[in-house]
Amino acid sequence: MRKLLIVGNWKMHLNTMQASILLHRLQERIRIYRDIEVVIAPSMLVLQPLSVQLDRRKFRLAAQNAYYKDDGPFTGEVSFTMLRELVHYAIIGHSERRHVFGETLPEVALKMEAAVRNGIIPILCVGETKTERLAGHTRRVLHDQVTTALKGLTGEDIENLVIAYEPVWALSDGDPTHHVHTKPDDVAAAEKVIRHNITELYGKKAAENVRVLYGGSVTPDVARGYLDVPGIDGLLAGGASVNYAQFSGIVDAAYKMRRELGAED
Ligand code: PGA
Repeated sequence: MRKLLIVGNWKMHLNTMQASILLHRLQERIRIYRDIEVVIAPSMLVLQPLSVQLDRRKFRLAAQNAYYKDDGPFTGEVSFTMLRELVHYAIIGHSERRHVFGETLPEVALKMEAAVRNGIIPILCVGETKTERLAGHTRRVLHDQVTTALKGLTGEDIENLVIAYEPVWALSDGDPTHHVHTKPDDVAAAEKVIRHNITELYGKKAAENVRVLYGGSVTPDVARGYLDVPGIDGLLAGGASVNYAQFSGIVDAAYKMRRELGAED
């Protein structure tokens, strides 16, 4: 059984003090699980102080982004090389990077290579916009995003990889009363497309080892529905992850599921 992965993407929320307080509370509440990995992706600014505070038996850190060059005259950027001792994972190709900051498919591919080159496991985000979905292009968009992102990687690199299916139209927009929930059947269909694309490129073994997550307005009450989708190995939560009760509730849902399947503590 692949380990379940619950990732909290804190986005551009929480200053240093607030981040430290939230981590402190989560560390008191969340236990050490043998087959669940809990990952926190705070802002770049607080990665360093949180890495000192972090209980590494309970959590791992992820960067939300980084630049694909290792070093050089690139004002305002932070490289994967600089992050290598600090984080275990890096989110790459998040839809906000693609759509708000204009990150292109080739740039995503370069970031994937840079992460792997620096020993950081990419959490590649893929997903279609509402317009693409309505036009019936979901499969093609996923295919293009997955295949271009993986272009520079080997089959071995791919086996450690995490891919999050995050339909752009289902991401929360900051309004806590407005959530668009993807149907678990649609998540199942996307998971199949993603693994199929990897099978075609790198073979069955690589496709079976990749962990596929779902993300988009995940809250504790819908978490289980997505975790029960066959082939889904965890969740990427945004808005809910900066809320202590909600994020712990999502981790609880994963824990409950694994316990029901007979996992030990
Ligand atoms: P959301 O964000 O849970 O707030 O929809 C998920 C993400 O953007 O990774």
